[in-house]
Amino acid sequence: MAGRRTLTIIKPDAFGAGNAGNIVALLEKQGFAVKAARVMHMTTAQAGAFYEVHAARPFYGELVEFMTSGPCMPLILEKDDAVASLRTAIGATDPAEAAEGTVRKLYAESKGKNAIHASDSDENAAREARFFFAEADVIA
Ligand code: PPS
Repeated sequence: MAGRRTLTIIKPDAFGAGNAGNIVALLEKQGFAVKAARVMHMTTAQAGAFYEVHAARPFYGELVEFMTSGPCMPLILEKDDAVASLRTAIGATDPAEAAEGTVRKLYAESKGKNAIHASDSDENAAREARFFFAEADVIA
């Protein structure tokens, strides 16, 4: 059965533009509940480790640089079928291909600066949640 929790990050472009509140409100309206949240400015080591799975890809350096360019906002969100629901809500990686009403269609400017991250599997959601939050930080 698909899990009820996923991990998202409001990325430095969207956070810096003052869109974090709008994005959280949009997701809450779609039934996501916030179970944990923090604001942080990732170090190169943190961003490099978080995106380690993409280390061999040509944009890795650019991605790490972008994710360390300013504060971001990781959150744990809860909803039925959370991973798939959130991937639908945020839209395609490239905002030019994102559906109307999705977070990326509304707030992203490019494939690199694309406003928001969402876990792509239950396994990665659990791993990514542990990356940012201790068990005690998460609402039961
Ligand atoms: S996905 O969602 O994993 O299928 O998308 P993918 O295209 O594989 O991209 C993985 C993450 O890399 C980011 N990305 C880029 N960053 C900088 N420059 C370029 N050109 C670029 N292309 C992709 C993309 O935003 C994904 O980040 P996350 O945080 O996982 O959404």
